[in-house]
Amino acid sequence: MLRDRLSEEDSAIIETIKRVAWVTGASQGIGAAVSRRLARDGWIVAASARSADKLHALSQEAEHLPGSIVVFPLDVTDEPAVERVFADIEARLGPVQLAILNAGTHEPIPATEFSVAPVRRLIEINLMGAVHCLTPVISRFVARRSGRIAVVASLAGYRGLPTASAYGASKAGLINMCESLRPELLDAGVVLSCVTPGFVRTPLTDRNPFPMPFLIDVDTAADRILRGVAGRQFEITFPRRFSYLMKVLRLLPYALYFAIVRRVSPRRD
Ligand SMILES: NC(=O)c1ccc[n+]([C@@H]2O[C@H](COP(=O)([O-])OP(=O)(O)OC[C@H]3O[C@@H](n4cnc5c(N)ncnc54)[C@H](OP(=O)(O)O)[C@@H]3O)[C@@H](O)[C@H]2O)c1
Repeated sequence: MLRDRLSEEDSAIIETIKRVAWVTGASQGIGAAVSRRLARDGWIVAASARSADKLHALSQEAEHLPGSIVVFPLDVTDEPAVERVFADIEARLGPVQLAILNAGTHEPIPATEFSVAPVRRLIEINLMGAVHCLTPVISRFVARRSGRIAVVASLAGYRGLPTASAYGASKAGLINMCESLRPELLDAGVVLSCVTPGFVRTPLTDRNPFPMPFLIDVDTAADRILRGVAGRQFEITFPRRFSYLMKVLRLLPYALYFAIVRRVSPRRD
């Protein structure tokens, strides 16, 4: 093994330059693609999600890569578990320099079937899950005056979309929270980005029964996220054409906005 042939001093230098990233929602889709891409670039990736078997498969897949993927199973809705797992990651792998908080899901809710349970589920996973992860990450990064954080929201957080009352609310909450955190964290030496993707082909969107405009593949999404993080961007949004469209919709007065939404929404009668 290479490490056996290195002097203690060399080993110490390698220890200090190794880069550690934490990716949540890493068992499939965007999180898995980001983890693979980071491991290809030499990062040690702490990969978290609930499905330990999928994380182990991802870790094995990365064995030939310059970096590595280490499995840390976690349900982000379990606040004490998040604290424990984050402490465990740093104890085993060293200080985390990059956190990609991506765990999330979607459930369409027709407005006529609106109820508490699915809304609570999505807020717990998408919004509170990110809050649980942000808490220890911000605390450690601020103490070290360094670190990068990317929170994965969605273009669906820009404006209310049909059947997305819970999903959109969770993602709009994340965008607003990130806007609030960014300036103060920058002053504290920490760079926080907010990722707002359009449609990306993943197991989540494979369930969608409708044509998805401007759909992109998951490796392109991973590339955009990591390029945005490297460029210290606040808003990492893609694909560009869909993002511009959503931004224009955001500027429209309600009468016009609702007229457009009703025209493009599938009718249920
Ligand atoms: N795909 C898109 O078009 C799109 C567009 C905009 C935004 N996004 C956002 O991008 C993120 C990733 O989406 P995706 O399309 O890659 O979805 P996906 O294929 O369903 O992957 C979601 C990931 O989140 C994990 N996860 C879900 N609930 C969790 C929990 N309670 N604790 C820990 N991990 C959990 C899942 O793993 P386990 O089930 O194993 O826990 C999985 O690894 C989400 O936040 C999504 O809202 C996606």
